[in-house]
Amino acid sequence: MKITIDQERLSSEIEDLAAFSDADPPAVTRIVFTPTDLKARAWIKSRCKDAGLVVKYDAIGNAFARWVGSDPDASVVGTGSHIDAIPNAGKYDGVVGVLGGLEAIRALQRAGFRPRHSIELLIFTAEEPTRFGIGCLGSRMLSGTLAPDAARQLTDNDGVSAEVARKNAGQAGELEQVRLPLSYYKAFVELHIEQGPILERERKPLGVVEKIAAPASLRVLVEGAGGHAGGVLMPDRRDALCAAAELILALEDAARSSGAIDTVATVGICDVFPGAVNSIPARVRLSVDIRDTNLERRDRVIKTFEEVCRATSAKRRVEIRSELVNADAPAESGPAIVAALRKACEKHSFPFLTMTSRAYHDSLFISRIAPIAMLFIPCRNGYSHRPDEYAAPEDIARGALVLAETLAMLAE
Ligand code: GLV
Ligand code: MN
Ligand code: MN
Repeated sequence: MKITIDQERLSSEIEDLAAFSDADPPAVTRIVFTPTDLKARAWIKSRCKDAGLVVKYDAIGNAFARWVGSDPDASVVGTGSHIDAIPNAGKYDGVVGVLGGLEAIRALQRAGFRPRHSIELLIFTAEEPTRFGIGCLGSRMLSGTLAPDAARQLTDNDGVSAEVARKNAGQAGELEQVRLPLSYYKAFVELHIEQGPILERERKPLGVVEKIAAPASLRVLVEGAGGHAGGVLMPDRRDALCAAAELILALEDAARSSGAIDTVATVGICDVFPGAVNSIPARVRLSVDIRDTNLERRDRVIKTFEEVCRATSAKRRVEIRSELVNADAPAESGPAIVAALRKACEKHSFPFLTMTSRAYHDSLFISRIAPIAMLFIPCRNGYSHRPDEYAAPEDIARGALVLAETLAMLAE
């Protein structure tokens, strides 16, 4: 069977999808369940229908586009990723796995392949934590990692609940129905940009992912006392932002001194209230993101951070409340899928690296219910989550080809 990828169409579809954005090009902002996201979803749905796929949604809005196999009752071979994009993001994160997955399916159809197992393209809801504060909302629910009641409690910054947002977006049905049975997937394989510099540095066009690092995040509220920036004397101050600054630097230090390059920690949001030049910050909200390939090391950083919160609270006479939003275990890829990916690379004499994903992905959660693996392609300078994120059309097409070969091996 000779599989060919339509690189030109795939590239132009990536451009088309990037036009559904709430930011000026080249930046892409596409937050889950906004009108822009809903238009992008409708566009993808029509592309999937054009390819003869049967499209369904679950109650949280995960889309399942299925190429029905000759044995419709057999377990499913899944692929896919997400199309939501954080504020001021690029065109490729998630999108390469969705449109590359769709093109892989079309390429198999053109090659005359007939799958025994159905092949299903998944477009996960809210891989990004932007709106509801927790990443991988759709795949957490599919895998039973996030219970329906916990999902109902999630709200965005405007106080709109995930429950209302999904219903307004037209996602009917009960959240209790979202969880998939353990027997549903035979395998799940996700194509994604690396979001790091290693493939480019090592001059390898492909990465076969054997492990996904363990992410955790915390919400922190620091409450001090506000007041006049001129009137309140320094010894009397209980400045919430100064306390938050100590927390941020202590977190950086805890990650840097963990003893491993795989430990990373970030404070990505720092909201200061009231946010006036001549007013002492009374309240600060921080979002904290901590990750590691090693669970114990990751948890040590969390513990250190929580200790620093207590010590800083006492020292600076401010209230500090930290709440763990998520602390997930890492995932190992399934050996059979890794073997299929390697075989597909070798068939075309494509060099590849076996590697770890430091970013999290929906595959992390699908791994709780099915064997998974991921295939990485390089992105320029390792840039991601920024407007100049870039993956070359030939690298994307190569990834889609290896994905197609792999899906064929898994689905026959
Ligand atoms: C996913 O977007 C991540 O933050 O790893
Ligand atoms: Mn992302
Ligand atoms: Mn992604």
